[in-house]
Amino acid sequence: MARPARPIRLLRLAAALAGLAALLSPGGCSRSAGDAALSHAERDRRSALAERARVAFGRLPERVPGAGADAPELVALGKALFFDRRLSVNGSQSCNDCHRLDGANPSGADGERTSEGALGRRGRRNAPTVRNAALHLAQFWDGRAATLEEQAEGPILDPDEMAMPDAAAVARALEGDPATAAAFRAAFPGTERPVTLRNASRALAAFERTLLTRDRLDAFVGGDLAALSAEESEGLRLFLDAGCVTCHAGPALGARQYQPLGLAHAYPTADPGRFEVTHDEADRGKFKVAPLRDVARTAPYFHDGSIATLEEAVRKMAWHQLGRTLPPGDLRAIVAFLGALDDVGAPPAASAESAVPAGPAS
Ligand code: HEC
Ligand code: HEC
Repeated sequence: MARPARPIRLLRLAAALAGLAALLSPGGCSRSAGDAALSHAERDRRSALAERARVAFGRLPERVPGAGADAPELVALGKALFFDRRLSVNGSQSCNDCHRLDGANPSGADGERTSEGALGRRGRRNAPTVRNAALHLAQFWDGRAATLEEQAEGPILDPDEMAMPDAAAVARALEGDPATAAAFRAAFPGTERPVTLRNASRALAAFERTLLTRDRLDAFVGGDLAALSAEESEGLRLFLDAGCVTCHAGPALGARQYQPLGLAHAYPTADPGRFEVTHDEADRGKFKVAPLRDVARTAPYFHDGSIATLEEAVRKMAWHQLGRTLPPGDLRAIVAFLGALDDVGAPPAASAESAVPAGPAS
């Protein structure tokens, strides 16, 4: 059977390379060769689209606001702790086991519907990516942790996750190791007893602030009009015109507000969502709007991980949130656009302080 997808794939590859080139070039927004090949009419159309996208999303910052205050020693400690299985009750699990930053798909999530904890128990929600989490209005699907610092204590003490009994047990697991104790002293100079759960959480948060994604949408918004393929730019237009952007706005394409899941047509879920935090009936069934950067790599989808593919997630969103059935071509284009949000990695040495590699600790 002929594969009509072929030329589109080639186009996408070309667009990916052009986008990458734009990201790597020092100015980041100079006209690429692909850009010059566009017709005048197409350039004008794309230029107007890029401007609309800039207004709706802005661009991902080079660095999380405030992250400049994180000392390199603090970030290095946080990175080591992220991969440290001693943070779980039986030494079997690190943050990285549910939020993979290494391996075949370092998406910051785990590909599981729900994740198995250190003691073999599963929670009820899907593990979201840690990438870009520092840009969210709050942490978790229901926003119950205000900051990354507050969030990090959650999984360590959660019986369904790393299952440590208390803060003292965490300190005991770490402070006996001279190298770890030294890393804490370096990160918290002048502190009498630096190895604490609170300090571990501070370090983990500092490391997570370095985990920003880079993608071709930013290249496009930055003026490289060939960074998206024809289908991807059509998908972007549909995303803006169909109303996805009313919720998925801002640099993370979401994570700035709580919204009902099932605004137009009810979505079956037993999870009360934000209601559990506020106890306000108006918040029942509301969740943090999922951020969409790098979303193609973080299947399965939704708070319960019940949706296996991105295509299905978009189809469900259109129906449950907007009351629409998307024509197959529109659905494909939106999915293609979301694929342009794949992380292409940080540009080398964009800033010395943020140039902490996202790989394993050793
Ligand atoms: C057993 C799997 C598991 C482990 C281990 C784990 N997490 Fe998670 N993580 C989850 C799940 C599931 C959620 C979503 C829970 C919810 O929203 O109720 C989550 C949510 C998060 C979030 C919020 C992201 C967002 O979009 O709201 C961050 C940040 C995070 N985890 C960081 C960490 C860190 C740091 C560690 C290590 C200290 C860790 N996690 C360990 C499963 C895990
Ligand atoms: C009324 C607000 C709203 C609108 C409109 C909306 N979304 Fe969503 N979207 C959400 C919320 C809230 C979630 C999180 C759902 C959950 O808790 O499972 C979400 C989740 C998603 C996810 C799953 C992400 C993940 O990591 O699980 C995708 C993909 C998505 N939306 C795409 C779209 C697209 C494409 C459109 C337009 C067709 C759209 N959304 C319209 C609010 C909205």
